[in-house]
Amino acid sequence: MSALAELELRARTELDACADETALRAWHTKYFGKQGEVSLALKKIGEVPPAEKRAYGQEANRIKESLTQAHDAKWASFKEQSLQRELTSQGLDVTLPGRPLQRGRLHLATQTLREIYAVFADLGFQIYRSREVESDENNFELLNMPPHHPARDMWDTFHTTTPGVLLRTHTSPGQIHVMRELCPEPIRVILPGMCYRYEAITPRTEIMFHQIEGLAVGEHITMADLKGTVTAFARRMFGDERKIRIRSSYFPFTEPSIEVDVDWPKEDPNADRLTKGTGWLEIMGAGMVHPVVLRNGGYDPDKFSGFAFGMGPQRIAMLKFGIDDIRQFWANDLRFLGQF
Ligand code: DAH
Repeated sequence: MSALAELELRARTELDACADETALRAWHTKYFGKQGEVSLALKKIGEVPPAEKRAYGQEANRIKESLTQAHDAKWASFKEQSLQRELTSQGLDVTLPGRPLQRGRLHLATQTLREIYAVFADLGFQIYRSREVESDENNFELLNMPPHHPARDMWDTFHTTTPGVLLRTHTSPGQIHVMRELCPEPIRVILPGMCYRYEAITPRTEIMFHQIEGLAVGEHITMADLKGTVTAFARRMFGDERKIRIRSSYFPFTEPSIEVDVDWPKEDPNADRLTKGTGWLEIMGAGMVHPVVLRNGGYDPDKFSGFAFGMGPQRIAMLKFGIDDIRQFWANDLRFLGQF
């Protein structure tokens, strides 16, 4: 073995054996100090016979580089260790994972509303924002429910101290606002928002909840358009295979009036409870806009027709996720909200 190879091997072995900074410092002096062995070996290049000088010089420099690198790496790792020792001795463990960041999220109600907006946006509906504090006239009369009309019983109402001013019981009065604003243009809008009812709060009923109203008015709108729209909506919301069922119903502001059910997969363990054993689940009321309502909006019912629907996104979210208590929506309980 050449003297240089022997030097490298010995220096390496000793370097590996250095257990702390003091040992490493001593090692460095031994090999790289003024009289260090590597330093001397480099100085010796000048004395080597010319024939061997080149090979010797290259080898000596290579050894110097490689030992320096190994030394520096070891030095850095000692520094790192001693820094950690210092920090840990102060009661700080830098190796512990950081505390997870608390991330906010959208409320389930908002998520559901946005999902529904997206479906209707694709169907060409725009969003129209209507007011929550309404006149009796818009909430009832112009929707074909004169004072003392028995159908008013369907909506328990919060009245304000101002006579004739109330919290809307449904989003339907928005129909009057849109029609009066846009007449005689054709209309295709949804009207989302909060509604209020003077009811006992139970797992199934709340005094405040969202509704999404839909309204399309034009010259040739028929029941087939309504059917196509609700079918497309149900498929997007609940899956492609979904069948829908239309039952006749009654609302003062539509004629004819219908209610729309979607079929619920029998495999779903909640199916029986949700559908009360029928396999069908109601998602909205709808119908062809009553001629009286069209006229109240400014449209001539001999020329124009339209369809309207109203649905409860809370109910839809409850069905989708098997939530059995509507009070959860406004209870601000993070254990509930954090699940969505
Ligand atoms: N406004 C009704 C309610 O709150 C829902 C409704 C039914 C809206 C039929 C409509 C409709 O637009 O055509 O119960």
